[in-house]
This record gives sequence, structure tokens and C-alpha cells, in this order.
Amino acid sequence: MRRIIIAIDGYVATGKSTTARGVAARLNYLHIDSGAMYRALAWHLLEKGIRTAEEAAIQEVLQDFAIHLEREGQEMVVHVGDRRLEEELRRPDVASFASVISALPAVREKLVSEQRRLGRGGGIVMDGRDIGTVVFPEAELKVFMVAELEARARRRYEELRQRGYDVTLEEVKAEIAERDRRDETRPISPLRRAPDAQILDTTHLSIPQQIEQVLAWAHVRIYAPQPS
Ligand code: DC
Repeated sequence: MRRIIIAIDGYVATGKSTTARGVAARLNYLHIDSGAMYRALAWHLLEKGIRTAEEAAIQEVLQDFAIHLEREGQEMVVHVGDRRLEEELRRPDVASFASVISALPAVREKLVSEQRRLGRGGGIVMDGRDIGTVVFPEAELKVFMVAELEARARRRYEELRQRGYDVTLEEVKAEIAERDRRDETRPISPLRRAPDAQILDTTHLSIPQQIEQVLAWAHVRIYAPQPS
């Protein structure tokens, strides 16, 4: 059976990572959350006191930025140096800075080459912003996830409150809208739907419904007859 590449891109809080994780579990594929890699670099820079997109300083840090992903079940957990990162990556300031630094060419070059290395050979579900357009333009299945801002803000608000963050719905909505704007308007690898991507609007869908829809599309590709 063919082990394909599934690229899932889309807006903040449309359920990309949760859907990707569920699809990977059902297909026995690896799930790679590319956003976690941008967040890991953002976290590392903040730790070093770098809080703005100072290109020269960031380039210097990138030279010996040791990011590696370790397999835990079907997940790839991000490590920077000898530190395993998980909860740190969910911090709103880390998410927001990830969106700022992800506009820098040096940052994209480094992380995109790492993502391509990880995805070689297929059998992966990778989610992000440019997976179907730049990282794996040859992916057998591309999905572009969208949802109304109101629904996305509410989901992210509930998730952050559950994690103990003291935020308001209005703050979350403003932060999401700002990240969307930055991700869509950056000159390099902006958030765009690949022309051959399936659109998945999750405004009124539950997570299991989203997973089932992506699996249905995936099955068509996995079982497609191969040219002999
Ligand atoms: O998917 P996420 O919210 O964890 O991503 C955090 C930020 O990283 C996002 O605002 C933009 C950036 N990012 C990117 O530029 N390209 C990707 N493939 C994934 C994330």
C-alpha cells in the first residue's frame, strides 16, 4: 500500500494539528506539526532575550540552533538542545513571536529543509502554512482548513483557559486576526491555498468529522491505481 504525504495548511485555530494527529493515528503515519518548529525557535530566541525580528542576531542564533524531533508513538516531539518542549510552545507570546520570525528568509530556509528531511519517504501528515505550497508541493493530498474567525477564537479561548491562561475572548480574537494577517501578507511563503488543495471549512464540524473527511480523501489517493 502506498504511504503518501498529507499536507494540511490553514488558518490559526481551525483544528489543523488535532486533525493531523487523528489522521496520522488512523493511518499509522507520523504526525509532524511544523508550527511547533517555528514556535520552538521563537521560544529559544525569547530565552536569549531576542524579542524583535533582528535579522543579524537571529541569523547568528540559527547557526547553532540544535532542533531535533524525537518520535514518541506517532508524534514527533520537539527538542531544542537537551530540552523537551511541549507546554512552553503553547504560550501566546511564543505563538505570536513565531509568526513574526517566520517571515525571515533565513528562518524558513533552515526549518523547511529540516521538514523536507523528516518527510522523505512518505507516511506522514504534516500541518502548517506552506506545506502544500512550498515544503511538499508534490504531496499526494493537500488540505486547506478554514473557519469563521468567531468559531476559531472561541476554540482557542477555551483551550487557553483550560491551560490556565488568564485571557479574554476579545484578546484571543485580536491575536488570531493579527497572526492571520501576518501569515497571509509576508512576502515569502505566505499562507495560501495550493490550487490543488481540498478546502475543509471546520466552522460547523466536530474534530471526528474533520478527521473522517480527511481520511476519505486520503483513501482515494492511497488506493489509487499506480501506473505500472
Ligand atoms: O501552526 P502554529 O499556530 O503552531 O504556527 C505558529 C506560527 O508559525 C504561525 O503563526 C506562522 C508560523 N508557521 C509558518 O510560518 N509556517 C508553517 N509551516 C507553520 C507555522
